[in-house]
Amino acid sequence: METLNALQSRRNVRTYQDRPIPNQDLETILEAGRRSPSSRNEQRWDFIVCTDRNQLTRLSEVWRGASFVATSAATIALIIPAADEARVRESIHYDLGQVTMAMMLAAVDLGVGSGHTAVADQVLARDVLGHPENMVCAWLVALGYPAGRPLAPIKTPNRRDFEQVVHWDSW
Ligand SMILES: Cc1cc2nc3c(=O)[nH]c(=O)nc-3n(C[C@H](O)[C@H](O)[C@H](O)COP(=O)(O)O)c2cc1C
Repeated sequence: METLNALQSRRNVRTYQDRPIPNQDLETILEAGRRSPSSRNEQRWDFIVCTDRNQLTRLSEVWRGASFVATSAATIALIIPAADEARVRESIHYDLGQVTMAMMLAAVDLGVGSGHTAVADQVLARDVLGHPENMVCAWLVALGYPAGRPLAPIKTPNRRDFEQVVHWDSW
């Protein structure tokens, strides 16, 4: 799929077919994340990939909005260093936004849908994922083939109008 097609086709997908994603495709999605740009190229992230159904079910309890993780084919946990300073946290999360989008676009290119979720219960997340105490699980990116309509370019996305959003030269 062309990049612009992938951009237009990505949407939040939270219901998945009961069908595994080949490891090679998962690696392509992870590689897209690994290649993402980051502040000073610090790459303050690690990825934990979960495909085990019991693990996914437990992971789906980390936040009330994470239930769809239970039925995903795979979920990638984005693990970052714990940071006290708001400025550092903001910088890490900006970078993670780019990681997430890169993964989502690579996924769409492979016909794989994605949806991300926040993580509230860090104790449970650490219990399931086993990352060190000085790191936190920032977000989960759930992946799976869409159970509903397949991924295809969305002609009229639910977005504010271009003219309303874009300002040329000045406000
Ligand atoms: C940072 C962030 C947080 C989000 N949190 C929620 C949420 O709490 N509940 C929800 O239903 N959707 C949430 N979404 C999904 C957005 O509502 C969704 O991306 C948006 O409506 C655009 O739809 P699309 O992703 O299908 O293009 C969130 C998206 C982002 C980027």
